[in-house]
Amino acid sequence: MPKTHVTMKVNGSEVEGLAEPRTLLVHFLREQAQLTGTHIGCETSHCGACTIDIDGMSVKSCTMLAVQANGAEITTIEGMANADGTLSPLQEGFRMMHGLQCGFCTPGMILRAHRLLKENPSPTEAEIRAGISGNICRCTGYQNIVKAIQYAAAKINGVEFQEAAE
Ligand code: FES
Ligand code: FES
Repeated sequence: MPKTHVTMKVNGSEVEGLAEPRTLLVHFLREQAQLTGTHIGCETSHCGACTIDIDGMSVKSCTMLAVQANGAEITTIEGMANADGTLSPLQEGFRMMHGLQCGFCTPGMILRAHRLLKENPSPTEAEIRAGISGNICRCTGYQNIVKAIQYAAAKINGVEFQEAAE
């Protein structure tokens, strides 16, 4: 199968490579760009472990071809930390609120939450749960992921985080 030259901006850097028309974006990112934070948890587009941010949208990168991302601007989990190396509010929130265990869903979950908080900076619990419904986690039961996103939202909005009573 002839390969196509594709270029995309990933986490602020130009990434280029050759991709077959059938090459999935998730494989291109993991194998060509060596960005292995983005994971593959299914083959039916359900799990969201492959979620990245592309041109201002949350996209499951297992369900997009690398050639379709030609010219796109992409953020993956490797681009989430602050420039000085400190954690972003979401990364910090997931740690502080124990929003991860095995960590396999976490890159996709954080990238989805990143876009969710841009769409809705002060989401309710129900809006968070609906907003991450494309991302499956086998470990946490989601409760602490919700808290992690609430923690990050509070930090981004400059308000004090109040853990809701259970
Ligand atoms: S790998 Fe499961 S949705 Fe992409
Ligand atoms: S932390 Fe293990 S799948 Fe979510």
